[in-house]
Amino acid sequence: MKKRIKAKLLIVSLFTLYGAGAVCDVAVEGVGKFHPGREKALPGVEGDRNLTNTYSHWKDEKALEKSMAEKLGDEVMNYKNIRWLRPDEFNGEILFEEAKAVYTKAGTKGKSCASCHGDDAEKLEGVAAQYPKFDSTLNRMVSLTTRIKRCGELYVGTDLPVTSGSNNLLAAFVTAQSHGVPIQVDVSEGPQKASFERGRNSFFKRVGQFGFACASCHTPPSVLKKLRGMRPSTPYGDAASYPIFEFPDYPERHYLVTLQHQIKACASMSRMKTEPEGSEEYTDIEVFLRALSNGHKVNVLSSYYGEALD
Ligand code: HEC
Ligand code: HEC
Repeated sequence: MKKRIKAKLLIVSLFTLYGAGAVCDVAVEGVGKFHPGREKALPGVEGDRNLTNTYSHWKDEKALEKSMAEKLGDEVMNYKNIRWLRPDEFNGEILFEEAKAVYTKAGTKGKSCASCHGDDAEKLEGVAAQYPKFDSTLNRMVSLTTRIKRCGELYVGTDLPVTSGSNNLLAAFVTAQSHGVPIQVDVSEGPQKASFERGRNSFFKRVGQFGFACASCHTPPSVLKKLRGMRPSTPYGDAASYPIFEFPDYPERHYLVTLQHQIKACASMSRMKTEPEGSEEYTDIEVFLRALSNGHKVNVLSSYYGEALD
């Protein structure tokens, strides 16, 4: 609850800053232009050295433990310490039991996910670390949730929309099979590279009623500064923790937030036109965010910071 209130406060504060333009629907100066820094946003989590220069404090478990022992501030650690909670602290085990029930349930084609991918999805080990991936049938990049939806349609005979609880449970279950595996999204050439570049453009382009880009908040000077009790973090590294557990929001999705849902939530909060989850537009942004996390270990299931900053 507290968090929802914070979100409202943030919106109120944005209105205070940009209220006149928003209320009168006057176009804000700079819309359509790029926020600075786009060319420097390249794949690889270590790129954050050039952005916030906090990377050495959180680059791996050892660095995080050292920073925490030294009691460095949240903003010095780029808030990465908030992902330090373990599954048993927030009922992650129960969630995986529910996920397994969906995973092993046969659909109208008489098969379950387990029929092809192993009882515990062990045949999908490491796979989630490579997503989004190019799908040659659809001829575009797809996120893990879209891939799962397609397997549901093609092989199981069950409807698994990307915004559904069942889909998101399966995404968490499959991603847990990559826990600890460094993210490796290939954006080196072809349609993969083109998708990365479109996603990067979307992240840096100023749009919407306030004329914000994602980068307006998630790169300097705003990044790591608290906006009414909430903090926009660097675009490097966070993507490794999705889907993420966020209680008490989204009970219909088993308290799971996918990366594309977070992107949509931010877009909506920032008064940008939103796109459907699973769309090419949001998949491109996901490609961009995940590729920026290349080299960072998948950390699923972990918990959204929620109240942890209070
Ligand atoms: C009848 C067998 C079958 C069933 C049942 C099935 N899949 Fe698949 N799955 C496949 C095949 C074949 C591929 C590879 C498809 C491709 O490369 O286009 C695949 C690919 C995948 C991938 C991506 C693997 C990669 O290397 O990129 C994931 C993740 C996945 N399936 C999850 C699921 C889930 C979750 C379910 C249950 C909803 C499911 N699958 C049901 C056959 C199946
Ligand atoms: C007005 C400032 C603002 C803008 C613009 C903005 N965000 Fe955010 N973003 C935040 C804040 C504050 C948070 C943390 C609180 C929350 O979850 O709402 C956040 C959280 C996130 C997270 C989760 C980070 C984590 O710790 O897991 C992602 C991913 C993200 N934003 C992506 C985007 C994308 C993509 C866009 C553009 C479509 C965008 N944001 C636009 C302020 C912003």
